Amino acid sequence: MTLAKTINDVDISGLRKMFDLARSDSINLGLGEPDFNPPENVKDALKDAIDSGHNKYGSSPGLLPLREAIAEKTKIHRDDITQDDVIVTIGGTEALWISSQVLFQPGDEVLIPDPGFVLYTPHVQLAGAKPVFYPLVQDNEFVPDIEVLKELITDKTKGIYVNSPSNPTGGVFCRDDVKAITDLARDNNMTIISDEVYEHVIYDDCEFCSFLGDYDNVIQIHSFSKTYAMTGWRLGYLVTKSDIKKKLIVMHYHNIACPTSPFMHAALAALKGPQDSVAKMVAEFKTRRDIIVNELNSIDGFKCIPPKGAFYAFPKFEFDIKAADLVMKLAEAGLICTHGSAFGEHGEGHLRFSYATSQENIQKGMEILGNVAKDL
Ligand SMILES: Cc1ncc(COP(=O)(O)O)c(C=O)c1O
Repeated sequence: MTLAKTINDVDISGLRKMFDLARSDSINLGLGEPDFNPPENVKDALKDAIDSGHNKYGSSPGLLPLREAIAEKTKIHRDDITQDDVIVTIGGTEALWISSQVLFQPGDEVLIPDPGFVLYTPHVQLAGAKPVFYPLVQDNEFVPDIEVLKELITDKTKGIYVNSPSNPTGGVFCRDDVKAITDLARDNNMTIISDEVYEHVIYDDCEFCSFLGDYDNVIQIHSFSKTYAMTGWRLGYLVTKSDIKKKLIVMHYHNIACPTSPFMHAALAALKGPQDSVAKMVAEFKTRRDIIVNELNSIDGFKCIPPKGAFYAFPKFEFDIKAADLVMKLAEAGLICTHGSAFGEHGEGHLRFSYATSQENIQKGMEILGNVAKDL
């Protein structure tokens, strides 16, 4: 059967393939999700919503009180945001998907971080547009070089993806980085797709800077997955002041009709309820981050800068082996992690370790890594 060219050119991500390598006794530092449960009040709100009959289709952009609560929370980044600027989606994933499908078409070029989250490139390709990669390197703390970005812009460049805190690098943009990229987008009439799903997973009093500001052509991508440890509940949202929100709703409607009703009630409870479980989770991630960074830097051949956000360490290694081959060797030795090249060419020479697992698992994983590294 002849398939559409766009789908023929796209495969599932290297991350999903890693799941297949895991044995039952493997130490898994490959998973991109918190090893916590949603807060108790949020689980209760879900059960209540189901029991009280919130099991039907709802409005396409999402439950009004939830959109109001999201708008209220988002005012900290831009004070004229209202519920009409919010669309509740099936995870950040759907928010990313509809953004790409509404914005891009054949002939367009789109700037994508390399290494960057695995959905950006296929989403751009599935829209028929051309991904153009901008490098993120450890020596620059995984923050883009504005001069390099400028050189990549042509009259075909329609948009730029940014992700801070970043998966896979853990890099965080400071206010000056956000301003410089926003100015560049404004000068070149580009839309910014800003993936801010790790907004709340940030360390060392590092300031989170959103791309939502005085430039309207920004789509903020957000999620309940990471903040409230509800990855399987599949709920996220986007916020934008741009006029394209009308078409984003059309695409969203044709994609999913409406978000999942009871889960939206739970998400509302998450936003309105106590936030102490988020603070506790982030404090634990910080302890684990310190452990894994120390361990990595104590292994000859690895260098890791402390990630400022998210829950991934992205060390560079100096061995003469491809990252994908090293990952296979580690899998055989009982450690699952992800090769940096799964996130783009500039990820070659790196491994990604998720520290969203117990301190004990991190220690055991680093022991395996140290033993394998000795023989390289
Ligand atoms: C950077 C980034 N953006 C978006 C997502 C999508 O998350 P979800 O669809 O669960 O909201 C993820 C998930 O790992 C991510 O790491």
